[in-house]
Amino acid sequence: MQHGLSIAQRNACLGCHAIDRKLVGPSFQQVASRYKGNAQAEAMLERKVKDGGSGVWGMIPMPAHPAMSDADIRTVVEWVLAGAPSK
Ligand code: HEC
Repeated sequence: MQHGLSIAQRNACLGCHAIDRKLVGPSFQQVASRYKGNAQAEAMLERKVKDGGSGVWGMIPMPAHPAMSDADIRTVVEWVLAGAPSK
C-alpha cells in the first residue's frame, strides 16, 4: 500500500502544508489534533481535499484536487489524521 507521505509529496500538498508547522495551510499535526476522536472527520476531510474550501483555519482557501483518485485521497487523509507519521 502507498504511504500517505508519498501521496502528499506527489500531489504537492507539502507546498502548502508541513508536518509540524503552519505554512499556507495548517500543519498536518494541527489537523490531526483538531479532529481527534471525531468520527465524521475522515469523510469530511476527504471531501474538502477533493473539492477545496476555506473558512475553517482562516480565509485562505485550499484548492480542489479533482484529479486525485478517491483511494489516494482516502490514504492521505487517514495518514494526516494519524498525525502524519514519517513511517
Ligand atoms: C495552495 C495551497 C494548498 C495545497 C496545495 C493544499 N492545501 Fe490543504 N489546506 C490549505 C489551506 C489554506 C487550508 C485551510 C482551509 C480552511 O481554512 O478551511 C487547508 C486545509 C487542509 C486540511 C484541513 C481541512 C479542514 O477543513 O480542517 C487538510 C486535511 C488538508 N488541507 C489536506 C491537504 C492535502 C492532503 C493536500 C494535497 C492533496 C493539500 N491539503 C493541498 C492549503 C493547501
